[in-house]
Amino acid sequence: MTTRKGDAARAFGGAAIAATLIALGGTALLAGLAPRSAQAATLTDEQIKEAKAIADLGAVLARAAKGDYERAKWDPIHFKPAIDYAKDEACLVCHKEILSAKPRAASPAGVKATQVEAWYQTLDTYAGAQEDFHWRHLQSPYSKQVMTLSCNFCHQGNDTREESPHVLTPAAANSDWPKAASNFTLRKMVNPSETCLRCHGAFPGENMGLPAKWEDTREALETPETPNGCLTCHAEQFRLNRHAVTYLHGQKIEELGKTSSDVCYGCHGGRQWYRISYPYPRHPWQGMPDDTPDWAKDRSKESDARFALPKK
Ligand code: HEC
Ligand code: HEC
Ligand code: HEC
Ligand code: HEC
Ligand code: HEC
Repeated sequence: MTTRKGDAARAFGGAAIAATLIALGGTALLAGLAPRSAQAATLTDEQIKEAKAIADLGAVLARAAKGDYERAKWDPIHFKPAIDYAKDEACLVCHKEILSAKPRAASPAGVKATQVEAWYQTLDTYAGAQEDFHWRHLQSPYSKQVMTLSCNFCHQGNDTREESPHVLTPAAANSDWPKAASNFTLRKMVNPSETCLRCHGAFPGENMGLPAKWEDTREALETPETPNGCLTCHAEQFRLNRHAVTYLHGQKIEELGKTSSDVCYGCHGGRQWYRISYPYPRHPWQGMPDDTPDWAKDRSKESDARFALPKK
């Protein structure tokens, strides 16, 4: 069965089928359907051509020029497989506002943003005032140095009507995330466990045999000559093959990391929104011990195929 066709028509079809299934046999039946093994099924040449035609900038401009809000809201570029071929420019034809959005200067209760400081704003790498979320990930000078996120890194399709991945069955089954994690989660526009968590998880101290808090280790390791305590262990000993993915600037990260551990810590605990950390792939490195620790038993040995760097 060819299932990687999450266009709007199919999406509605999926919703209708899902509703019938719930009426018939409850959600258990539905749950059985969702993680279809056709995950990342290969598309036929014809399907790829179709997806590229939908994502084509010229075609997007033509559809946008019609100014039909209802059609645009369900434009097939929002869904698999077309979204995989969408360049940022194509999304921005209709969503330019996200480049200029600003947070409020003061909270509704009157607290000025300039008078408060969040803990992550104390990182050495933080510059400027509080900014819009999209700006911090796509446009801030620092983000441009360490990463290169595109719209479809995070946005893999979403459902503006039900906001549930379980209703949009075809899209849910067409995931390119590890272990077929859903393209977005309930009432979210993305899947936070596969996006945010990668760079906003907790410091994985227990996996390193270190205290859970980096502050408890940091002071003992860092001097003006060795400003990055992480490199005490991560320059020559452990997990040396890292960041070889399309959405990070791996070399630049190592370069910037020479002067401050806040570069590393920033993405590995210093901007923590979660109590857990991401289960990173565990790339073999020279001198890696033969026996795998328990916590690492389920880990992949390579980065997601979706983000693999082109082979030289
Ligand atoms: C032809 C115009 C058009 C294009 C191209 C387009 N969108 Fe949209 N998009 C819309 C409209 C209209 C809405 C509905 C906005 C609303 O109701 O506030 C929408 C909604 C969204 C939403 C919010 C959904 C929600 O739940 O409120 C996201 C996220 C989104 N689009 C992302 C993207 C991404 C990523 C791309 C590129 C892959 C893209 N869009 C391309 C017109 C477009
Ligand atoms: C780092 C992940 C990430 C990237 C990259 C990203 N987005 Fe989003 N986007 C989100 C999240 C999360 C939300 C939901 C924000 C909310 O609920 O307030 C969102 C919300 C939106 C919305 C709904 C309106 C709004 O401002 O809340 C639109 C439209 C949108 N994104 C378009 C885009 C486009 C176009 C791009 C590329 C130029 C892009 N996004 C890049 C994560 C991302
Ligand atoms: C690939 C790494 C990466 C991913 C994925 C990522 N972030 Fe970030 N995030 C960063 C970096 C780096 C910064 C700091 C940028 C700067 O200092 O300019 C940041 C900053 C932020 C900020 C601070 C904004 C401010 O101006 O104070 C928020 C909030 C945030 N991220 C939320 C999220 C959410 C929510 C997601 C998932 C939808 C997400 N991030 C995904 C790397 C990432
Ligand atoms: C005392 C040595 C030591 C220091 C200091 C150290 N690490 Fe580690 N780190 C390790 C070891 C050991 C591992 C686990 C190696 C393995 O996979 O068996 C590890 C693993 C990791 C992992 C992967 C975790 C996972 O779950 O896959 C990340 C990310 C990481 N370290 C980041 C950092 C950062 C960022 C710093 C500084 C803020 C730091 N480390 C400081 C020794 C250290
Ligand atoms: C912009 C965010 C960002 C910064 C800055 C960053 N990392 Fe990472 N790191 C990641 C992400 C995302 C991954 C997972 C990449 C993947 O899937 O292969 C990762 C993976 C790792 C891993 C696991 C390696 C493996 O086996 O694949 C280690 C160890 C690590 N980082 C240490 C560091 C150290 C040390 C620094 C500073 C020199 C640093 N990180 C800076 C985001 C970041």
